[in-house]
Amino acid sequence: MPRLLSGLQPSGQLHLGNYAGAIKQFLTLQDRGYESFVFVASYHALTSVRDPAALRTNIRQVVIDYLAFGLEPKKTHIYLQQDVPAVTELAWLLGCVCPKSQMDKAVSYKDKVAKGLPASLGLYTYPVLQAADILAVEPDVVPVGEDQRQNVEIARDLAQRFNHAYGRDDTPVFKVPEVMIQRGTAVLPGLDGQKMSKSYGNTLDPFLPEKKLRKTIMKIVSDSTPVEAAKNPDTDTTFALFSALAGADNPRTHELAEKYRAENISFGYGHAKQALFELVLEHFGPARQRREELMGDPGHVEQVLRDGAAAANQAAAAVVKNARHAVGL
Ligand code: AMP
Ligand code: TRP
Repeated sequence: MPRLLSGLQPSGQLHLGNYAGAIKQFLTLQDRGYESFVFVASYHALTSVRDPAALRTNIRQVVIDYLAFGLEPKKTHIYLQQDVPAVTELAWLLGCVCPKSQMDKAVSYKDKVAKGLPASLGLYTYPVLQAADILAVEPDVVPVGEDQRQNVEIARDLAQRFNHAYGRDDTPVFKVPEVMIQRGTAVLPGLDGQKMSKSYGNTLDPFLPEKKLRKTIMKIVSDSTPVEAAKNPDTDTTFALFSALAGADNPRTHELAEKYRAENISFGYGHAKQALFELVLEHFGPARQRREELMGDPGHVEQVLRDGAAAANQAAAAVVKNARHAVGL
């Protein structure tokens, strides 16, 4: 059975970008029979979250959202990063084969410091810990959004360096995984047209109460083409979000594109936004319902995490044992 691993940081409310770029792929692969490891990257979030109460809440919320979106604990092991200590041990072993120059070249550190995050050592070595998350469970694929491509490339590179330094040709220590990025939704725009991101405050949360959801969608920035004129769907954020959810090949998406292109006084951006609002409610209807139920069942959530951690610890135990032995410990 092929294996996948991925994770999200609990640094705030999940949004449509996380869903389109990452979670949607987890669901597709889960249903194709992948044995999936999907975790909550709590240690990574410590590079940006300094409020313990908020962190605790966010961690639980990500797990509830994973389950609400449709991850099934029978097919997907869901766990918290801190419940798999092998990960931090591997991070040290990998750090010792990682040239400092490789971290100097990583773009995410520079971007995050430019956005105002503290320039900590944790932030600087963030990709090494991520490599440990990945290599610990020997996945075949790592599905992520485009912004994570470099981090997964670094994980591949560190695995190869370690194998080169310590493995024998016939028995590499680490399995080298593939990165998997969904075309079309690799970078989903936010309400203001920039990349949708927690740090830009331009996100759309599919679990908002109905009234607030509608209000938020109506705030999406559009250009000033008059109602009666033809509009370009390919440069419009509302259309991009609709297409990401319904699918670019869906007849409903084609139909909406035609309405944009027609010179039609009775179709403006407001109508497109209304269509998006209805689609979000329809698409996430079952998820919204499940989320309500899960919020009232913390016992279930805890059980899912215990089972998930047991599976991840089991997968990681063999890898860490080999890696320790390989380096001479
Ligand atoms: P983060 O919110 O940075 O922890 O990202 C979690 C996952 O969601 C990663 O795989 C990201 O690549 C993906 N992601 C975040 N924002 C977007 C976006 N605007 N478009 C596509 N994928 C995204
Ligand atoms: N850096 C990822 C993000 O910000 C989260 C993450 C941590 C991750 N470890 C990972 C993603 C391992 C995939 C695989 O989204």
